[in-house]
Amino acid sequence: MSELRLLDDRRTLPIGVFDSGVGGLTVLHELLVWLPHEDFVYLGDTARFPYGERSRDELERFALQIAQLLVQRGAKLLVVACNAATAAALPALESRLSRLAPELAVLGVVGPGCRLASNATASGRIGLLGTTATVLSGAYKRGLRACSEDLTLTSVACPDLAPIVQAGFPFDQRVVDTVRGYCRPLRSANVDTVILGCTHYPLVAPMLQRSLGPAVRLIAAGAAVAGEVQRVLDAQHLTNPRPDEGDYRFLCTGDVASFRDLGTRFLQMPLGEVEHVDLDAEMAA
Ligand code: DGL
Repeated sequence: MSELRLLDDRRTLPIGVFDSGVGGLTVLHELLVWLPHEDFVYLGDTARFPYGERSRDELERFALQIAQLLVQRGAKLLVVACNAATAAALPALESRLSRLAPELAVLGVVGPGCRLASNATASGRIGLLGTTATVLSGAYKRGLRACSEDLTLTSVACPDLAPIVQAGFPFDQRVVDTVRGYCRPLRSANVDTVILGCTHYPLVAPMLQRSLGPAVRLIAAGAAVAGEVQRVLDAQHLTNPRPDEGDYRFLCTGDVASFRDLGTRFLQMPLGEVEHVDLDAEMAA
C-alpha cells in the first residue's frame, strides 16, 4: 500500500513556476487554461526585475535559489516561465537539480517556442524579439538549429520593451513607437514568423502584429509549454487525479500590493493569495 500511497501524494503536489516578476503570468495563464486540474505555486522575483540586462552568472544563481525554494514548497515539476532565465540558466539548473532532486523535471520556454516557430515558418526566415540576456545567450539560435538546419534567425534585443509594457497601462504612443522601432529590422529581413521571446510581449501582440503585417505569424510559447508539461506528467504518472479545478497561489520577492495590481492584468484571472518571500533569508534558514 505504501508505494501506491506515495505516488498518490506526489500527484497532488503543485507545479512550481517562476519568472523575474509578473510577466510569467502570461505563461501561467496558459497552464491554468490547459491544465485545469493541477495546483500551481508561482514565484515572481519582482525585487530583482528585470532579468533581461543581467549576466549569465546572476541568472544561474537566481534560478537555482528559486528552484530550491519551490522544491522546499513541494513542487513536483518546475517551469521556468522566464525567457531570460531559461536562455541563460536552464542547462546549469538542469545539471544542479539532477544531483539535488533527480526525479524533478524542469521545463523552459525556449524549446517549445523554437518547435512552434519551426513548424509555422514557410520561408525559413524567423525573427526573435527578446531581452538582451536572451538574445546574447544564443539559446534560440541553438534551439532552432536543433529543429532544422534550414532556418535563419534575425534577433532583435529590445532592452526597453518589457519595462515599458510593465509600466505602460494604459498604452500610449511611446509604446507604439517602441514596438515599431524593434519591428523594423524584422520587416527588413522579410521574416514570416516572429518568436515573442519575452513573457511581456503577448500583451502588445496587437501592436506587433499591426507593425509586422497580417502575414507574419507571432509565436508565444505558453500553450506549447502546457502541452509539454502534460506529456511529462503523463510519462511520470504525476497528473493530478482531482476532478475539479486546482488551486494556484503566489510568492513574490518585492512589494505584494504592486504584484497584485499588475498581476491581475498579466494573468487575466483573479490573483488570490500573494505571500512575500525573502529568498536570502529562506536559503539561510
Ligand atoms: N520574464 C522576462 C523574460 O521573459 C521578462 C523581462 C525581464 O525580466 O527582463 O525574459
